[in-house]
Amino acid sequence: MAGAASATTMLLKYPATLCSNSGVSNNNNESSLSRDNNNLSIPQTNNNNNNKNPMLKFRAQPNKIVTNAVASPVFPTIKTTTTTPSSVQELVYKFDPTIPAEDALTPPSTWYTEPAFYSHELERIFYKGWQIAGYSDQIKEKNQYFTGRLGNVEFLVCRDGEGQVHAFHNVCTHRASILACGSGKKSCFVCPYHGWVFGMNGDLTKATQAETQTFDPKELGLVALKVAVWGPFVLISVDKDLPETDVGTEWLGKTAEDVKAHAFDPALQFIHRSEFPMECNWKVFCDNYLDSSYHVPYAHKYYATELDFDTYDTQMIEKVVIQRVGSSSNKPDGFDRLGSQAFYAFAYPNFAVERYGPWMTTMHVQPLGLRKCKLVVDYYLEESKLGDKEYIEKGIAINDNVQAEDKVLCESVQRGLETPAYSSGRYVMPIEKGIHHFHCWLHQILK
Ligand code: FES
Ligand SMILES: [Fe+2]
Repeated sequence: MAGAASATTMLLKYPATLCSNSGVSNNNNESSLSRDNNNLSIPQTNNNNNNKNPMLKFRAQPNKIVTNAVASPVFPTIKTTTTTPSSVQELVYKFDPTIPAEDALTPPSTWYTEPAFYSHELERIFYKGWQIAGYSDQIKEKNQYFTGRLGNVEFLVCRDGEGQVHAFHNVCTHRASILACGSGKKSCFVCPYHGWVFGMNGDLTKATQAETQTFDPKELGLVALKVAVWGPFVLISVDKDLPETDVGTEWLGKTAEDVKAHAFDPALQFIHRSEFPMECNWKVFCDNYLDSSYHVPYAHKYYATELDFDTYDTQMIEKVVIQRVGSSSNKPDGFDRLGSQAFYAFAYPNFAVERYGPWMTTMHVQPLGLRKCKLVVDYYLEESKLGDKEYIEKGIAINDNVQAEDKVLCESVQRGLETPAYSSGRYVMPIEKGIHHFHCWLHQILK
């Protein structure tokens, strides 16, 4: 059980995510860059290997053009995609949603392997509409904050000293350093680079050593994002024009009431977070989630003993797929994790709310690149079970193990998609109708 070891450590608060800018403290009220960071190291050229360096070889060639112009600096070649926006559209149209699923081909593998397609997805999918950012418990108190990433957007959500919730791009307006990291509580944000100070409302309150400068601090506050709290969820939007009324319906459409009935339960307490970095495109995980457990009997031997597959029901409602399944009446070990029925609501593009037995889990698959994503699983439990350590540890270990098994499957699929052997697959209906619905939605949004 690969995921079981980490799962046995109970975390009673949301763990602080490690900062990507190394050398920066997690509770940085002041800069903690080490002295070593001031000593920029420049890669040294090994003269013995000059002839192996293609750049040096190029420079050594005689220049046939004589000019007084100052030569442009020579930079390493930046790899760019050859796919233009119009050819991204061609890729989108390689999947035809008008063909009945029984006869249709799945989207081409380039939907999962082409850099320009991924950029197009960020623009059309993740930078539109409400997107999950975190949980209201993370900013329950004044001055609490958390950070995260939505595509290439680094964001920061906080509750200021007046109780007002804000979201900002987590980028210093001086030289673009990432400002805050992880999560916690503080009264202001101090940039770890040159020490500029921002209030929790985003205002620039101090630009160190800049007293005599002519710029207006009012114009250098943090760049705001839209933010909304809906029950236990915090949502953000990069789209400035999104209305802030009726957030649940805007996010989940007709299924908002159903999800609300399952997730807005004050008896639920957050108890643990597990994270699974995956070397695959984010959609590979979504496809896996939406196959109505087609893969479960083969890939999840223990989980398969918990389900009564005859009761499996999948409904697609606008941009949400709801899967319901009864639990097996003859579990070999008698451990009751699911209660009578499991409810899984997957909201496009990348978030699922799950209720079963005394548990609620949320699954958030975060795109971190064309073939890189991270699954974040948060566990909530009803109060009545909070004292049962053995039950909690076993429940988390079982579910974490399912995710560890899915990670192996998804990474395998990504490698397969990248081979020349595969271009498109087929749907097995009706069990894969959820995946077909997801692909049709993607086509609709991306075309
Ligand atoms: S980059 Fe933030 S203070 Fe300079
Ligand atoms: Fe699975």
